[in-house]
Amino acid sequence: MDTFISHFPELTGQTATVKGWAYNVRSSGSIAFLQLRDGSGFTQAVVVKSNVDEASWQAATQTTLESSVAVTGTVSKHPKQEGVYELQAAAVQLIQKAEEYPIGKKEHGPDFLLDNRHLWLRAPSQWAVQRVRNRIIYAIYDWMRDNGFLKIDSPIFTPNACEGTTDLFAVDYFEDRKAYLTQSGQLYLEAAIASVGRCFDFGPVFRAEKSKTRRHLTEFWMMDAEAAFVEHEGNLKIQEELISYVVKSVLEDCAAELRILERDVEPLKKVAPPFYRLTHTEAIKILRDKGSDIGDMDDLGADDETVLTQLYDKPIFIEKYPAAVKAFYMKRDPADPTRVLNADLLAPEGYGEIIGGSQREDDYDELLKRVREHNLPEKEFQWYLDLRRYGSVPHSGFGVGLERLVAWICGLHHVRETIPFPRLMNRLEP
Ligand code: 4AD
Ligand code: MG
Repeated sequence: MDTFISHFPELTGQTATVKGWAYNVRSSGSIAFLQLRDGSGFTQAVVVKSNVDEASWQAATQTTLESSVAVTGTVSKHPKQEGVYELQAAAVQLIQKAEEYPIGKKEHGPDFLLDNRHLWLRAPSQWAVQRVRNRIIYAIYDWMRDNGFLKIDSPIFTPNACEGTTDLFAVDYFEDRKAYLTQSGQLYLEAAIASVGRCFDFGPVFRAEKSKTRRHLTEFWMMDAEAAFVEHEGNLKIQEELISYVVKSVLEDCAAELRILERDVEPLKKVAPPFYRLTHTEAIKILRDKGSDIGDMDDLGADDETVLTQLYDKPIFIEKYPAAVKAFYMKRDPADPTRVLNADLLAPEGYGEIIGGSQREDDYDELLKRVREHNLPEKEFQWYLDLRRYGSVPHSGFGVGLERLVAWICGLHHVRETIPFPRLMNRLEP
């Protein structure tokens, strides 16, 4: 059976073979230390010249940084460090001797690292980020399933916009037709709820946003959720339960990864329902009191979000934005029709928006009016309007931006490190 470094605690005293990469090598005369990584963890193989045959000794001393190797030996507890295991090598095989590795121990700039993303992914920090991302994805699936949401896969090629027409990526379809890469599967999920009640999708979405900020990617992953018979208030409850569960799962299962990332976990431990709630009006007042010149009916910018989230120790919902700054499908607040029944969820510690959600307009005439006001192609939206003609119900949903969630939980400054191969305005490679 294959053995993995992560199994070492149960393999103490036994023979194991590690197949992986040497991320550090040291040798002196008659002993060599190979620091190994196999994807499941990290360990040190101790190769004593007198304990191995000549071929193994040659292999160990020829191993360069990032060479691939297979080392067989006995698993032992580290003599001094608790919870650390080593491999006392009996045989070493050099699978491929790496050329001089371009990423060294010294500090590199972000452009250099991104140009070498295919190699940078191997760094312990990047390994840790991908492990946390993976844990978050599974936690989301678990919570959604346990709470009655069915996974519905929405299309990537779409004939129309979900989130405004300004940042669509068009691609050539057939016979002079254009297709657009999806911005969010929401509209399709709204159709599916009349079949399955509650559902979610989870996949790549695309935004041709000309934003070069630490929060924007042109391709990112979104989990859209949609639920029939859930109104504004219920929508927020679902979101705070989901996010709290996700954070708790990461804290339970990714302690080692968060340590590698030097993430202070104290703020994360506080993430439990209820989250704070501010109306847009209240948020504007706070910002003005802090010296901002933001207008009553303005959208919040990234800097405004940063200011607000630094005032609170848990995520904050900002509710009831002016209708004019939000998407066409949001239901108006009956108490103030200039506003919508929406909420953006802002992550604390300066991170800002991680979720956008709302109750949806369920009245045919109102929705048609919005489609026209937003100059959307009525014909392409006919199927969406149909949903308000055949058994329309109050319903709500939201979209979680995976990379923003990962950035916050990992404590990373920029979303580009949260996705294996980031796509940015000025970066399509590697
Ligand atoms: O707020 P957004 O635009 O909402 C929607 O697309 C809704 N249709 C979702 C729904 O109700 N089903 O996007 C949702 C989330 C944001 O809160 C943010 O976390 C993330 O997606 N997001 C981005 N992440 C990275 N790069 C970008 N350019 C992003 N744009 C949005
Ligand atoms: Mg938004």
